[in-house]
Amino acid sequence: MCGIVGYVGSQNAVPVLTAGLRRLEYRGYDSAGVAVLDHGVLRVLRCQGKLRNLEKLVAAESLCGTPGIGHTRWATHGRPSDTNAHPHVWQGVAVVHNGIIENHLALKAELIRAGHIFSSETDSEIFAHLIADELHRTDDLAAAVREALRCVQGTYALAVLREGDESRIVVAKNASPLVLGRAEGESFAASDIPALLEHTRDVIFLEDGDVAVLQRDGISITGADGSPVERPTRRVDWTPIMAEKGGHKHFMHKEIFEQPRAVADTIRSRASMEEGDLYLEGLDSEVLRNVSRVVIVACGTSYHAGLYGKCFIESFARLPVEVDLASEFRYRDPVVDSSVLAVAISQSGETLDTLAALREAKKRGCSTAAVCNVVGAAIPREAGATLYTHAGPEIGVASTKCFTTQVTAMAMLAVKLGRVRGTLSAEEARRHLAELSSAPKLMEKVLRQEQACADLARRYRHLSGCLFLGRGPQHPIALEGALKLKEISYVHAEGYAAGEMKHGPIALIDPELPVVVIAPRGPGYEKMLGNIEEVRARGGQVIAICSESDSRVPGLADHVLRVPDAPPLVSPLLTVLPLQLFAYHVADMRGTDVDQPRNLAKSVTVE
Ligand code: G6P
Repeated sequence: MCGIVGYVGSQNAVPVLTAGLRRLEYRGYDSAGVAVLDHGVLRVLRCQGKLRNLEKLVAAESLCGTPGIGHTRWATHGRPSDTNAHPHVWQGVAVVHNGIIENHLALKAELIRAGHIFSSETDSEIFAHLIADELHRTDDLAAAVREALRCVQGTYALAVLREGDESRIVVAKNASPLVLGRAEGESFAASDIPALLEHTRDVIFLEDGDVAVLQRDGISITGADGSPVERPTRRVDWTPIMAEKGGHKHFMHKEIFEQPRAVADTIRSRASMEEGDLYLEGLDSEVLRNVSRVVIVACGTSYHAGLYGKCFIESFARLPVEVDLASEFRYRDPVVDSSVLAVAISQSGETLDTLAALREAKKRGCSTAAVCNVVGAAIPREAGATLYTHAGPEIGVASTKCFTTQVTAMAMLAVKLGRVRGTLSAEEARRHLAELSSAPKLMEKVLRQEQACADLARRYRHLSGCLFLGRGPQHPIALEGALKLKEISYVHAEGYAAGEMKHGPIALIDPELPVVVIAPRGPGYEKMLGNIEEVRARGGQVIAICSESDSRVPGLADHVLRVPDAPPLVSPLLTVLPLQLFAYHVADMRGTDVDQPRNLAKSVTVE
């Protein structure tokens, strides 16, 4: 997984490319590079490490020219190094690539026999060689790219620049994201929208198999067979400032505080409060009425949103729900058929395992739906219907606002299913939607207690492990709290269903182990009091998340963080916030790279 950018226009491409790459650094950050034409002459600079290394290099070399292409890398084939950094060049053809070419070893062997010399360990370099070879037969760069693509098996978003041809860059896509942008006299390409926002909000999503020629005066696209195709231009409502840190130290911090707005937007986009109904276009009520089971597939944080969804779909719609890790579902020969509604949850809409699971479900006849934050991404394009979350771009690798908007979307889906199936009355549906609508205000109230979370983080910043416990809809919050801490502070943490504590984790409890107990008032509350007692009896330290009105938990726990009293549907949207803030401050105090934690990437478009 990597980020690519391309620019054709009259400006010096270098600052356009590096600014675009900065917005894509979340996709990978182990090396970066750019290629431009300086009066037709190809100049390439690339280096290991974060983008700032490339920026220094570019300044030192006074690199200048147009058009250009750029890349920020997350290593898959070949370790992070200067030589494995993109762009890769052969005989005047420069290429940047995001994806994996499965047959590159066989192709490489063949090309080496024909006299080609490879300078990297990457699969991506194959493109420069294949395209350069084709250019011996044709002078048409797009045709050469199309021909070269016939040889490769795998996934790609690529951009190609040819020495001597200042009029164009050529881009192509298969299973990796690629979006194009147009402005007066300029054309842009990027792996994701934030890289384009400074220049345009009119974007075009390419389809798999598309090859596009970007020129100053326009973009022409051909499908896999080479015939011209039209792809609609869509207007995105994200502003560049939305993609900036907006005064926060980290994107993650900014995104935590954007949650009330993001949740409110997500509700607003779908719910009609007066009618107690929801607009879910594409999801036929007839289909929803007749499904016998719901299967949710997702990865990481999105999987936790799926677990939350299970609680309320079962309760509101009386439908059995399975929640599956997409990477397990896709390889397991799952028992699903046309009576099943498969729901893929993915903030990026590009996670390969989730996309593959969705395809598997479709192949087996399921009706499908997606919950996604990126308009036009691969998963919503392939799903029967999409419930978009409206979190705006999420840049921090650890998901926060996308999680709470996914939870909101799942709550709405549960209400919708309950209504069409007649298991929820109009009055009940209205009540639940009203509850949900109250969430943003309550979330704001929780976020005002940041100082308490930071104080707690200071107290525990040297912790070496942490256990998170929750029941029912708070169980996914326990998992999510543990994941946040792991992801950004590198502290081992486990999330557990509280009832399971006695079957294992209880052995871990000693005076050194903080145990975060999520115990707001509501179902399971009394049982959570029991858990707190069990931890205390074994000398463990209890950090409790409890309701404002609660007087019992504060008497038992070592530390409490309070959230407003709220119904079970809403409570997880509140209890997760102190856990995000706790993880954030622990990580910040430990000095980790909060927005780009080691070894992780924002959107995992490889297996
Ligand atoms: C990566 C990210 C996580 C995310 C997961 C699934 O692991 O670091 O934050 O939850 O992918 O991503 P998706 O885009 O499918 O929600």
